[in-house]
Amino acid sequence: MKSSSLFFSLLTLILLCHISSAQSQTYNTLWIPDTLSGTNFSLTIKDTLKQFRTGNQTITGGINNTNFWGPTLFFNKGDTVRMNVKNTLNDSTTLHWHGIHLPAVMDGGPHQVIPPGTTWQPFWKVTNNAATYWYHPHLHEKTEAQTTAGVGGFIIVRDSVESSLNLPRIYGVDDIPLVINDRRFSSTNQFILDGTHPDVMLVNGVLNPQYSIPAQVVRFRILNSATQRCYNLGFSDNRAFYVITSDGGLLDAPVPITRYMICSGERIEVLVNCTSQQSQVVNLMAYNSTLASDIAGTASKVTQDALSGKDFQILRLNITSPTAKPVTTIPTALTVNKFFDAANATITRTLSISDFNAGGGVLKAILNNQFFDIKRIDYQIPLNSTEIWEIRSTSTLAHPFHIHDVQFHILSRNGSVPPLPEQGWKDEVFVRAGETIRFITQFNSYSDPIHPFMYHCHFATHEDQGMMGQFVVTSTTGILDNNTPTLKFSLYPNPANDKVWIKFADASTEAYYVTVTNALGRAILMLPQPQLENGIDVANFASGVYFVRLMDKKTKAITMQKFIKQ
Ligand code: C2O
Ligand code: CU
Repeated sequence: MKSSSLFFSLLTLILLCHISSAQSQTYNTLWIPDTLSGTNFSLTIKDTLKQFRTGNQTITGGINNTNFWGPTLFFNKGDTVRMNVKNTLNDSTTLHWHGIHLPAVMDGGPHQVIPPGTTWQPFWKVTNNAATYWYHPHLHEKTEAQTTAGVGGFIIVRDSVESSLNLPRIYGVDDIPLVINDRRFSSTNQFILDGTHPDVMLVNGVLNPQYSIPAQVVRFRILNSATQRCYNLGFSDNRAFYVITSDGGLLDAPVPITRYMICSGERIEVLVNCTSQQSQVVNLMAYNSTLASDIAGTASKVTQDALSGKDFQILRLNITSPTAKPVTTIPTALTVNKFFDAANATITRTLSISDFNAGGGVLKAILNNQFFDIKRIDYQIPLNSTEIWEIRSTSTLAHPFHIHDVQFHILSRNGSVPPLPEQGWKDEVFVRAGETIRFITQFNSYSDPIHPFMYHCHFATHEDQGMMGQFVVTSTTGILDNNTPTLKFSLYPNPANDKVWIKFADASTEAYYVTVTNALGRAILMLPQPQLENGIDVANFASGVYFVRLMDKKTKAITMQKFIKQ
């Protein structure tokens, strides 16, 4: 080789090394989701594309104008919120309001299917405590695929208790939502869903993220939305941080801690004191090398990958100058929670988590020794029942158990009081291998003998495989199970052009839920009653025959009438 060409080869090599080392230190600015507030929320779920890295764009799912994840919804406790959820995906979906207490038919579980091209309009009165919740698809066997694509978003509930505290509350500045999860990309940059374990981290949909935070007390609202991984959170300088909420509300007081293990579906809000630390850098980390072997995210239970069993960086934080009115102290008290009294529990239900040998050395975890069956109601729960649920696991893996409708209080983990950060309102509990958990809750406000609520493992892979069950909350008052009267109503004008109105034979009748289906039986519109006074907008319907299925609020009986669209 001539000396000149050797020189160029060396130069190329040096340049290449330089480029690759520069790339490995390249950070992307964390994306903060837009916000929506008020009482009317419009969410359009869509297929889209996102450029995560060089090469092909990744096929993703977004909401409104995003190309991954969706807007953060702000609710005020006490408000009645109305959602317009439009599905423009090429597939059916559902949208579930995780952690929110509402009627089963508004819950967005596997039963509230939103077919492509249709709109779902649930509404409810917000009764949850101030905390961080989230929404995500829940279509049976499609939950992993649709959440992996990116469909989902934060819900932040505010109330008077939280608002009266001196807490950071400037969204995106000192009050920062972080949805953390992981993915594996194919060689063409598509998300891989074949069971191989993810190997790159995403925070708010951003690879290698960094963010600037002010030198004061900063609040992070952390949601683990990973398909199947827990993160043992901590900071790179081992500083203490203060947990102020569990899933469903404020803790009694901030809990100082240096590690917190968050599992799929769980949320915590933490305070980090960065006062006078201007120009320092600190990293949010996952210290997963120390996790026990039953926990998803350790090396032993999954194929070796770049994250499992390792300590890795989640988010680089650059501390900059403080804001004008910084919060600089951590409060000593937050609220006075009043949990249910175990002495008042009238029913104790025992559930099991176990491994089912599916053949070929494959173990699938199941609840109560059976797979999910959408036609089977596992429990009939009396309205206002205060219950203890005892979950006994013989599984070799730990599983995040989640229940819809309620927030609960953990009484014990293997007979002991749970750690302080878990002594608040929870809608999920991480059940370790071989562990027995007892929690107490009350099934109040909403009964519906037809529409069930779900309980399941929040590892989306397990849930999709059938690690799920369902219950209905039933009331003996106000529901006429036998001799259900026929609900009489008519539709006018018929044939219709723009709008159809409903006229009840008995004016005191109230509709609970209305579904408009076409001649093929496909639901086109799903509507709550209070909007019926404005008529049903059919202006965009193709001409033909349609059916209005109306559920009586009192009896939950369904009656059908047809109309013709001209
Ligand atoms: Cu986060 Cu059943 O759901
Ligand atoms: Cu599981």
